[in-house]
Amino acid sequence: MKYGYFDDSRREYVITTPKTPYPWINYLGMEGFFSLISNTAGGYSFYKDARLRRITRYRYNNVPIDMGGRYFYIKDGDTVWNPGWSPVKTELDSYECRHGMGYTIITGKKNGLKAEATFFVPQGYDGEVQQLVLTNESSAAKSFSLFSFAEWCLWDAQDDSNNFQRNFSTGRVEVVGSTIYHKTEYRDRRDHFAFYTVNTDIDGYDTDRDSFIGLYNGFGDPQAVLAGEANNSFADGWAPIASHFKKITLAPGESKTLVFILGYVEMPADQKFEADGKTINKTKALAMIEKYNTPEKVAAGMAELRAAWDKLLGILNVETPNDKVDRMVNIWNQYQCMVTFNLSRSASYFESGIGRGMGFRDSNQDILGFVHQIPDRAKERIIDIASTQFPDGGCYHQYQPLTKKGNADIGGDFSDDPLWLILSVSAYIKETGDWSILDEMVPYDNDMSKAQTMLEHLKVSFYHIVDNLGPHKLPLAMRADWNDCINLSCYSDTPGESFQTYTNPKFAAEGGYSKVAESVMVATLFTYTGPNYVAILKHLGKDDEAKAAQDAIDAMKKAIMDSAWDGDWFLRAYDANGEKMGSKECEEGKIFIEPQGFAIMSDVGKEQGADVKTLAAIDERLNTKFGLVLNNPAYSKYYIQYGEISTYPGGYKENAGIFTHNNAWIICAAAYAGQGDLAFKYYSEIAPAFTEETSDIHKTEPYVYGQMIGGKDAGSDIGRPGKNFGQGKNSWLTGTAAWNMVAISQYILGIMPDFDGLKVDPSIPAEWDGFTAVRKFRGAIYNITIKNPDHVCKGVKTLTVDGKAVAGNVIPVLGAGEHTVEVVLG
Ligand code: BGC
Ligand code: NOJ
Repeated sequence: MKYGYFDDSRREYVITTPKTPYPWINYLGMEGFFSLISNTAGGYSFYKDARLRRITRYRYNNVPIDMGGRYFYIKDGDTVWNPGWSPVKTELDSYECRHGMGYTIITGKKNGLKAEATFFVPQGYDGEVQQLVLTNESSAAKSFSLFSFAEWCLWDAQDDSNNFQRNFSTGRVEVVGSTIYHKTEYRDRRDHFAFYTVNTDIDGYDTDRDSFIGLYNGFGDPQAVLAGEANNSFADGWAPIASHFKKITLAPGESKTLVFILGYVEMPADQKFEADGKTINKTKALAMIEKYNTPEKVAAGMAELRAAWDKLLGILNVETPNDKVDRMVNIWNQYQCMVTFNLSRSASYFESGIGRGMGFRDSNQDILGFVHQIPDRAKERIIDIASTQFPDGGCYHQYQPLTKKGNADIGGDFSDDPLWLILSVSAYIKETGDWSILDEMVPYDNDMSKAQTMLEHLKVSFYHIVDNLGPHKLPLAMRADWNDCINLSCYSDTPGESFQTYTNPKFAAEGGYSKVAESVMVATLFTYTGPNYVAILKHLGKDDEAKAAQDAIDAMKKAIMDSAWDGDWFLRAYDANGEKMGSKECEEGKIFIEPQGFAIMSDVGKEQGADVKTLAAIDERLNTKFGLVLNNPAYSKYYIQYGEISTYPGGYKENAGIFTHNNAWIICAAAYAGQGDLAFKYYSEIAPAFTEETSDIHKTEPYVYGQMIGGKDAGSDIGRPGKNFGQGKNSWLTGTAAWNMVAISQYILGIMPDFDGLKVDPSIPAEWDGFTAVRKFRGAIYNITIKNPDHVCKGVKTLTVDGKAVAGNVIPVLGAGEHTVEVVLG
């Protein structure tokens, strides 16, 4: 069942009912000011840091769901309604929500009155603009009242939700004309305030929540709205809000447009006040208001926003026989990659904005998805990440976006982390040809006195793996690898211990983690990423170092085949007792997804058919109609030696859930192995546009990936396996976005930046006749046509560039201008 449709020409998803199976959200903002907005206008805003500069309040995990947002209430006679249905939930005569690139338009109609609200954050602007167009579509004049609403958060979202003994006494506002200023703590220690304004005179206002809503009422029945009158209340402590009240009369057919702005302002400490030393100096705020206080200015702001997205989405465009693929590649997958760049894992409807910082591995992988869109910012990001590495190649697992410093509470020793840096730096060079990133001086542990070149960072990353091998010459698993729920040194039996940070004292003498537990996943990730490091060394003419690195990769491949090949697939790990994990011999969890794809893509055991066998085993044991489960069979008991993974009921998260992130690794591997039909099958099982038809099961947004989909075992814990099979969770902020962008664009469609040019090597469904693509790459535009007359999956028979035959499948780097590329498969 669907709850809307894609409008590709406008790059929008159009939701046609407010009662989606979960709130379906969008993001506004690209640089400093960000908003989350659901299809019923729920959500909140923050400046840069969702914890420390939370502007409006939101109640996570509330009953009912999605409470708190920017709301317009209309009281028309006895009927009170919102254009987005919630929170009053009066049935509307019509409803539509259009989520677009950085904007959302919500339109509701009731009793002949139409209200269309457009929400966006203009380019380079620290505020959310809300344009409300009210149209009387009836044949009689209409008089009604309008109330706006926003609830201020007292800045630190964590403190705001627990320090009530103080916070109920600190709230402060100022009201001047039609602008309500939120200035809690501004007098004392903060140099920032927020405002909510409207470009018209008003008939009243409220700034005190209890006066507006009523102590025993909710957002759905605010007493001021029910009474049809504002109280002109003034918050002093308790909960400050901002609500404008306006009486409006419209002749038949008449429209009125109001522009509201929710803004954030920072002031230099010595300019915070007017001469009286108390009143906010509003110069900056007024200039901000001036910028978007008419519909014409709003239209110009929207046009600028559209132009920015035209540019960001103009680097890669494809036309394939499948319009779902086109809308994923050209629009939504790229959009999601930009959002993960902006937000990392901080603020979504599943991430509260107060928990996690920027992950070392997560942020490196995100780069793979957006480096073609914003290479300069990718470079800056890579340097920020690498700056939190230690001289021995280990790294802080997380860093804080505001300070950019490594997070000592979480620490390091996640075995996969360093390898992702090799991958992100390589992706940057392949996209841009800018080898100078390797010469950048990058600190260790954020200490510039310990800076070394980025090349040196790659070296220590590579050798951090080589220098930390276990008994089978496989990499030590340490605290965890990519699957941070496989914690082989944890042995936790005490509630509340974090599996991510706790290691059992029994490993204290060994430096904090087992020197026996080994990760096969890291071994294969090493053989997959390592060749990039070798290629870089060769390019720099460092042949001896290249050879040494290649030898280490070959040795790892041998170790994998000697000790980690289980006959039909690769093992997952050796635990701290030296026992196999992810083997036929195991009672549960016999096969895991993570090591397989990287092994196939680095040809481990290829000469003995390991790739073909592994793909067959995956198809047989892991595949379902909603994607590949992470492991099988699911764990039905707690295995203390494995850690968090077996704490989840079967079918959820890392315990046999469908982890869409690592599904992409198998899609890539199947494509790499020439099995384009298989790759496409797996792709279409999880790609959001394909899940649209089953939105009632999938629940989360059909335009973006979530981190997880319930596996076939979901529900098994309560004796109903399959109960929540196919149910998506944790949408938006996940490495899934980047990896599936890589999978579809680079492996299936096969347009893959390489060190020396643009490789074109599709691995597509055999039934396709071909496809076309436009790719901007290193200053040139390539118009690519792929023809598939023999209906093969893979294999470039001929490649011509501007009419000239080119050997192989790499388009050399050409000068600026447009080039015609023709590829015939066969
Ligand atoms: C989750 C993981 C997450 C980890 C770190 C675990 O509880 O299952 O997906 O990466 O916490 O925050
Ligand atoms: C989510 C985390 O953000 C990511 O780092 C991890 O790899 C996955 N969970 C898998 O456990």
